[in-house]
Amino acid sequence: MENLEAKILQADSLEALEKVRIELFGKKGVLAAQFAKMKDIPGPEKKAFAEGLNKQKAALQALFDKRYEELKAEEIERLLKAEAIDVSLYGTLAQKGALHPVMETMDKIIDYFTALNFSVETSGMVEDDFHNFEALNLPKYHPARDMQDTFYFKDGGLLRTHTSPVQIRTMFKEKPPIRMIAPGAVFRRDYDVTHTPMFHQVEGLVVDEKGKVSFANLKAILTDFLQYMFGDVDVRFRPSFFPFTEPSAEVDISCIFCGGEGCRVCSHTGWIEILGCGIVDPNVFKAVDYEDVSGYAFGLGVERIAMLMHKIPDLRSLFEGDIRLLEQFR
Ligand code: DAH
Repeated sequence: MENLEAKILQADSLEALEKVRIELFGKKGVLAAQFAKMKDIPGPEKKAFAEGLNKQKAALQALFDKRYEELKAEEIERLLKAEAIDVSLYGTLAQKGALHPVMETMDKIIDYFTALNFSVETSGMVEDDFHNFEALNLPKYHPARDMQDTFYFKDGGLLRTHTSPVQIRTMFKEKPPIRMIAPGAVFRRDYDVTHTPMFHQVEGLVVDEKGKVSFANLKAILTDFLQYMFGDVDVRFRPSFFPFTEPSAEVDISCIFCGGEGCRVCSHTGWIEILGCGIVDPNVFKAVDYEDVSGYAFGLGVERIAMLMHKIPDLRSLFEGDIRLLEQFR
């Protein structure tokens, strides 16, 4: 039986030991074969033979159990080592980013209008004179062109000065009814605390059969929109002029800094100008061959709204990419 003990002691893994167990203690194992010999043993010797065999079996079983415990402990040790985590080690720290405040504001604006079933339209930033000016009732020598200082290309193309050309392109592409907004970057030759050469606008346009779209509709939606953006503010419509709308209005909210009392931000008027709007001028519909329709339009500056919402004093700081400013918006 010497080599049976050696077999147990030499098993160097739980799998190997399991094989040994089957070989020794299994139904067709070595011990079973020994016990089977009993029937051939003559009567008087049977007892002694059986006793000897049982002792051997018990000894082997004890040896087996001990080896099993040893191997099991080794296995656990090995697993612990393999899966050990050094909690004192520095990991790679993930840098948390954030949306730029202009994009966050843009998203908030888009969310409002898409919830009201407005489609989101886009077109290129390089425009031509027709879509940026002519079709919007701004003929060549119209003085209103001075309102927008334009970057021109040598070939007569230009960087769009507003998102209003997207109105024109969408009306050429689609048939009424139209309910759209056009978010995007626009460009003007301007640079001071409240102006940068590139900024963002959201244009809105609603067109339907004649008589279906009114100034009252425009007033209702813009009032609700501004209260969604700024909370409990007063909204006022002031007569104004835009070539592409008639009548036109500029819309003010009560100053969110002083609550309408008058302060430096609102130039002591209690009001802050926030967007332009109006009823689409018939000349615009003529330019896109629309007949028997009515519509309203509006346009707003996204940076201006972001500045007000976050109380950012200098618009230029939004585009300097200074991480110290951006980190405040995480
Ligand atoms: N396009 C104008 C601008 O850039 C903004 C604007 C005003 C758009 C009135 C409109 C509108 O659609 O009706 O200053």
